[in-house]
Amino acid sequence: MQTKFITFEGIDGAGKSSHIEAVRDCLTSRGFEVICTREPGGTALGESIRALFLNYEMSPETETLLVFAARREHLRQVVWPALARGAWVLCDRFTDATYAYQGGGRALGGAYVAKIAEIVHPGFSPALTLLFDLPPDAAHDRIVGREALDRIESEAKDFHERVRAAYLALAEAEPSRIAVLDSREPKDAVRAQVIERVLRLIGASAGFAPTVQSR
Ligand SMILES: Nc1ncnc2c1ncn2[C@@H]1O[C@H](COP(=O)(O)OP(=O)(O)OP(=O)(O)O)[C@@H](O)[C@H]1O
Ligand SMILES: [Mg+2]
Repeated sequence: MQTKFITFEGIDGAGKSSHIEAVRDCLTSRGFEVICTREPGGTALGESIRALFLNYEMSPETETLLVFAARREHLRQVVWPALARGAWVLCDRFTDATYAYQGGGRALGGAYVAKIAEIVHPGFSPALTLLFDLPPDAAHDRIVGREALDRIESEAKDFHERVRAAYLALAEAEPSRIAVLDSREPKDAVRAQVIERVLRLIGASAGFAPTVQSR
């Protein structure tokens, strides 16, 4: 399904937040309405779920179910209404993150995640996913100065290696949707590639009808 929904993915510190603003500026300067949002979160309920998710130890299954509960509400309250009125939606993490973190990092497997995704948002996926790829050591060096790392950021290196590998496997399976950007390159060079992909999508989207229904 073609929508104006762009997601930003990658391990912690890979560069998602750095580039979401550039994409927002690119779209707003062309007169489009743009919503920037994030997961888990994006609604009051979702932000509360995010706090639970980040602060309590829990099983991989519970992590998955919590993020999908937040996602369902986020889609219903924010994402689908915005797309239905023709806005662009830029989202910091979406279902690919669940495949990567719970499916890969927690070794739950993709089939478990796929079953729930099929219930929560059947037939709905981003038009474009920008995957910022960086080795975990480099990503860790970029975020280590932050005040306190959360329970996912503080996971061992092999966890982040599994997350990264799962992301790259998703990109290999869906190369037309998922653009892999080498985040070891300087920020400006990465930004130029990001903008190029977005401009291509704007061109392709010229005839998009707002086809997203409220469910
Ligand atoms: N290509 C790059 N080269 C060098 N530094 C970068 C690059 N991209 C991002 N950074 C820097 O790395 C740090 C982490 O980037 P950013 O906050 O965008 O990552 P993130 O993916 O949003 O992380 P998180 O998942 O923790 O929110 C920031 O200080 C940012 O300025
Ligand atoms: Mg960020």
